[in-house]
Amino acid sequence: MSAPIPLISVDGVYKRFAGPDSLLRRISGKPPLAVHALNDVSLEVHRGETLGIVGESGCGKSTLARCLVRLYEPDGGAIRFEGKDIAALKPSERRAFNRRVQMIFQDPYSSLNPRMTVSQILTEALGVHRMRPRKEIPHRIDELLDLVRLPRDAAHRYPHEFSGGQRQRIGIARALAVEPEVIVADELVSALDVSVQAQVVNLLLQLQQELHLTVIFVAHDLRLVRHISHRVAVMYLGQVVEISPSEALFSTPRHPYSKALLDAAPELDPARRSRTVAARGELPSPLHLPPGCPFASRCPRVFERCHVERPALTARGPNRRAACHLPDFGAPSAIQSDEVMKS
Ligand SMILES: Nc1ncnc2c1ncn2[C@@H]1O[C@H](COP(=O)(O)OP(=O)(O)OP(=O)(O)O)[C@@H](O)[C@H]1O
Ligand SMILES: [Mg+2]
Repeated sequence: MSAPIPLISVDGVYKRFAGPDSLLRRISGKPPLAVHALNDVSLEVHRGETLGIVGESGCGKSTLARCLVRLYEPDGGAIRFEGKDIAALKPSERRAFNRRVQMIFQDPYSSLNPRMTVSQILTEALGVHRMRPRKEIPHRIDELLDLVRLPRDAAHRYPHEFSGGQRQRIGIARALAVEPEVIVADELVSALDVSVQAQVVNLLLQLQQELHLTVIFVAHDLRLVRHISHRVAVMYLGQVVEISPSEALFSTPRHPYSKALLDAAPELDPARRSRTVAARGELPSPLHLPPGCPFASRCPRVFERCHVERPALTARGPNRRAACHLPDFGAPSAIQSDEVMKS
């Protein structure tokens, strides 16, 4: 039996932005610099799962999220939805795609029109894709408010009358109004107080199960990502360096950068607590990508080949892939032999 087609597949995607001083450099005859935000990203997202995307600031998470909802056009590679290249959709398919895949933004303050009531905001969202006949809209608004656990009288109030967490619930209700199948949540809760973050994330978890949503959850906070994700993709300098089931990644990272990222978040698991700074050195500039492994300049296990040859993302056991020239990195047998060498 052949494997089911992933709902979304990202295949060798590149995205570059004009670098700093582009105009000045052109005027003075110098070649323009490009920021290599995505550099051959490949991953797939399966229907009904939550895929977490983690990695330090500037590694391309938001750029990838924006490419997934067609806010950005990749410069190379393809993104396929149900096997179809989203850059080549017919207008009617494109409209359907725009409804089926919704993004929820980090900042609920700026993404809600302050002059519209919640009812108007949701009515507008329902109108864009003609989701309901006019007379059914009030009932649908009640349903949406129930879904995000807001009181029904919220409909007649303005965004500024709500707390940050409640505003993010309004943002979720607006995304759900068009009955999407995929939610791309970029730093959904990072602007909220820690005490409110868990409530909003748990709401998303419940909605995901209730509505069989597929969720792409981009976040800095590894604790939240672990809590919510079935699988996690770890990005570094515009590339996916590991993609693994969540628990497997957090217990036995198979890429030195994944390990460094987890070691730098000691609150995750007190047993792993370490005082050492996990990834030494500076993050290379996305203006000048190194020729070999992107993590070579900071990797504690670096060797010659890493500086010249970029490792491909290859299988590391069931459902796991990592891009490292050390195929045994993090494998149980390798950990045991490391322990023997230390003792
Ligand atoms: N519109 C843009 N124009 C120029 N450069 C950009 C643009 N958007 C992103 N970049 C650059 O692309 C790289 C990736 O940025 P991106 O915002 O995707 O990272 P990120 O992983 O989401 O970071 P963070 O965790 O801080 O949100 C960075 O070097 C960033 O400066
Ligand atoms: Mg970002």
